[in-house]
Amino acid sequence: MSARADAAAKAAEPARDCPFCPRLVAFRERNRAQAPAWFNAPVPGFGERAARLLIVGLAPGLKGANRTGRPFTGDFAGDLLYQTLIEFDFARGEYAARPDDGLRLLDARITNAVRCVPPENKPATDEIRACNGFLAATIAEMQCLAAIVALGRIAHDAAVVALGLKRAHTPFAHGAMHRVAQRLTLFDSYHCSRYNTNTGVLTPEMFRAVFAAVKAHLSN
Ligand code: URA
Repeated sequence: MSARADAAAKAAEPARDCPFCPRLVAFRERNRAQAPAWFNAPVPGFGERAARLLIVGLAPGLKGANRTGRPFTGDFAGDLLYQTLIEFDFARGEYAARPDDGLRLLDARITNAVRCVPPENKPATDEIRACNGFLAATIAEMQCLAAIVALGRIAHDAAVVALGLKRAHTPFAHGAMHRVAQRLTLFDSYHCSRYNTNTGVLTPEMFRAVFAAVKAHLSN
C-alpha cells in the first residue's frame, strides 16, 4: 500500500472522546461541565471529501468552533475566512457564525491541524504531533485534492509532516506556493486571526491575493 493509501485507511476524524492528549482531554471535560450545551469535542472537517481545495487552520477557538462544532464558525477568524471564500466562489450562502446558517462550501473543505480546542489557543508540540495522523488521513482520502491553503506556520508544518515531506525543504512564508506533488500545491497564508488582522500583519487584500492564486491554480 502507498503511504497515501495507508493514511486514507486510517480515520480522518478523531472519536468524540479521543484520548490522545491528556491536557486537551482535561480541558474538554472542564468545558463540558461548564458549558454542557456547547459542542466540546474534536471539531470535524467541513465540506466534501471530493473537493479540490483543503484549508488547514490551527485549532478550534474556545467560544467559536468548540462551541458551534464547525471549523472557524463563531470565531473571529471565521469572519474574514468565510467572507473571502464566498467572494472567490468557494462558498455559497450567508455566513451567520452558526452551523445552521445554510452556508455551503463549493469544491472546498476546512479542517484544523489540531481538532480539539487547546487552552489559550496554543496547542503543544506533542498535541500537534498526536493529531497529525488525522490530517494525513484527511489529505489521503481527498482523491481530487489539488490545493492546500495552510493558515499560519503551525498549519503549514502540520500539512508538510502529514504529506511526508521535510520541513527544512518546504519553509513557511506568507504568499508562498510549494509544489508538493505532481498535482498538489501548498499555499501559505498568515493565519486570519484577530491578532494578525488587528495588527496589520494580514490585511484582507493579502488574504484575498492568496485565494486569487488558488483560484488561478485550480482553473489551469
Ligand atoms: N477556528 C478554527 O476552527 N480554526 C482556527 O485556526 C481558528 C479558529
